[in-house]
Amino acid sequence: MTDFNIVPNRRNLSNSNKWIKYSKNVLPMWLADMDFQSPAPILKTLHKAVEHGVMGYEFPTPALKQTVAARMDKLYGWKVRPEMVTAVTGIVSGLSVAARIACTPKRGVLVQTPVYNEFHEVKNNIGVPQLNAPFVKKVNGNILSYEIDWDIFEKQVKKAGMFLLCNPHNPLGIIFSRNDLLRMAELCIRNNVLIVSDEIHSELLLDGNKFTPMAQLSAEIAKNTITLIAPSKTFNVPGLFCGFAIITDKELHERYEREVSRLSLHVGSMGLLAAQTAFSGNCDGWLIELRRYLKGNRDFLVEYVTEHMPEVRLTIPAATYLSWLDFTQTKIEGSPFEFFLKNANVAASEGRIFGREGEGHIRLNFGTSHKLLEQGLERMRKALKKI
Ligand SMILES: Cc1ncc(COP(=O)(O)O)c(C=O)c1O
Repeated sequence: MTDFNIVPNRRNLSNSNKWIKYSKNVLPMWLADMDFQSPAPILKTLHKAVEHGVMGYEFPTPALKQTVAARMDKLYGWKVRPEMVTAVTGIVSGLSVAARIACTPKRGVLVQTPVYNEFHEVKNNIGVPQLNAPFVKKVNGNILSYEIDWDIFEKQVKKAGMFLLCNPHNPLGIIFSRNDLLRMAELCIRNNVLIVSDEIHSELLLDGNKFTPMAQLSAEIAKNTITLIAPSKTFNVPGLFCGFAIITDKELHERYEREVSRLSLHVGSMGLLAAQTAFSGNCDGWLIELRRYLKGNRDFLVEYVTEHMPEVRLTIPAATYLSWLDFTQTKIEGSPFEFFLKNANVAASEGRIFGREGEGHIRLNFGTSHKLLEQGLERMRKALKKI
């Protein structure tokens, strides 16, 4: 049994960006990594490599690709040939490579806002237009949910070269339904738009929810989709920068590999080793416990906010360790991120970085100990009360 109540000191004993960005008295609840140690089998693999002591060049082995393919089969019954798997130096690099292939100054990148801030950088990095399809926001009491606006999606997809899907969604915690995925895919295929499905959070499922990879829905959709997965969020190894692109169409796969090779996007050996262990199944017991703990934190957060900050609206994420809070109905003037940093010593993620719809919102990372989560919420409650 892992005790997730115990979290290592990250401020003094590591160079964690999350923990060193703000001053000592600030509780960091922003960047998307968790405060927990990675599962023991991964740490053991890495220790062994360090003890061996030679840090030479290593590349993705056929065994690693086989492990990734086997995981897709085990989790979803999705049959992936190992040679369809390409290692990438993280998912952000992976989606930038896709954009270099699929987008042009006339055919941009379609995103569903508010969405992960790095999605907003593609337009700058590749020099292509960004097309937004904002969600429709629904409010029930203090609980928020978001739905696809199909009219906007349909209008925007016509101008796109690539649709960058975030599923499960950061920061909204949505797991898209099969029907929604089919409808999005159908519109993309009809308009000759490549689907790039960022599924980095796909194993961080709460409430026993199920996940279906976009590319598994049909052979036709698979042919038009690049799937991006990684062990980084699930097993808390994001600093090792290792992810995978799965591309079933041979020609598209070759183009993608050529681009990866041209950019020399080599994954470090520690990342490859961690991925091999993470996807081998040896950490799945740990993952079951982690999900249970995260669900406990999510439930606590929703209950706490509902009871003590009733004017604050929030999502109930179905996946991820990220929640989305709306302060537009509170007395906070200006950015709630600034407000809580200044008045509560809590550093959340500024909602605005996820898109214009994020104004007046923050994203809160609950991938930490119950104690630290409670401390953060207490600080926020007190600051709000003082206005
Ligand atoms: C949806 C999504 N994609 C990609 C990433 C980052 O991936 P990487 O660090 O592998 O580039 C994150 C991190 O928060 C994320 O939430």
